[in-house]
Amino acid sequence: MEVTATFADTREKYQGTVGLLPTLGFLHEGHLALMDLLRERCDTLVVSLFVNPTQFDDKDDFAAYPRDTERDSGLAKEHDVDLLFVPEQDEVYPVGETTIVEVGGVSQEMEGRYRAGHFTGVATVVAKLFAGLQPDIAMFGRKDAQQLAVLKSMVRDLRFPVSVIDAPLVREPDGLALSSRNVRLSRMDRERALAISRGLFQAAEQVDAGERRGERLEGTVRRSVKGLEVDYATLASQDTMVPIDELDRPAVLAVAAHVGGVRLIDNVTFDWADGRPVPDRGLLLAKPSRLT
Ligand code: PAF
Repeated sequence: MEVTATFADTREKYQGTVGLLPTLGFLHEGHLALMDLLRERCDTLVVSLFVNPTQFDDKDDFAAYPRDTERDSGLAKEHDVDLLFVPEQDEVYPVGETTIVEVGGVSQEMEGRYRAGHFTGVATVVAKLFAGLQPDIAMFGRKDAQQLAVLKSMVRDLRFPVSVIDAPLVREPDGLALSSRNVRLSRMDRERALAISRGLFQAAEQVDAGERRGERLEGTVRRSVKGLEVDYATLASQDTMVPIDELDRPAVLAVAAHVGGVRLIDNVTFDWADGRPVPDRGLLLAKPSRLT
């Protein structure tokens, strides 16, 4: 594995099909699972580590975001990554560059209501990564379901020649969705955070039993997380990310809640098969993650 710092140096080392996994670093087993999936689809596997300042609406959150390049580099090597792209800020945002990418529609609701400018920051940095690294394939996890929808819209609208692949949300055996933020949860808060996935799983069971009313499904989640500060618990269309009253199309039941000062997001996606919703609860790790 080689560590690169510029777009040009990275591109020089390509062979065959190039797969990119963009990350903010501080890799967890969710990222590692995605690397393994992407490895099977490409000849050159590129992972980027960049804590992108423009997507953090809160300076303290940006400052508190965990960073450990040496640790990440060891993990990437173990997972057969070819190129670890670790740019300095001025490689991605050179002084004087002012272009930003704003995706309308899908970015407005849920996260869009609570994190001003977040998706503009995400779309801008991913557009720069796509333009600078020119991958054939890029993978994004379903954990950030709205981000995935935003980036798919961007790729479609700006005609980036990149195939975007959905990757599964990965969970601890007890249901907690993997996130680099989990390291900031105290043991007690981690226990409280389980109310989020528990509520989502209960709602998914209701769907399996025939419930389709958005209000009921959201109510189930809200009851489960009632001890937490909740930003939203919303059933939304997977394509538009607009809230819906009835589960009558591919959708996502998404939650954002604060636990002990840490903001967590989670969801269950409902795909469609044989005229009915099929819940995707994500991948459950067989053993507790060694990385949190
Ligand atoms: O999902 C993330 O880790 C980030 O939002 C991404 C896609 C790497 C952009 O900085």
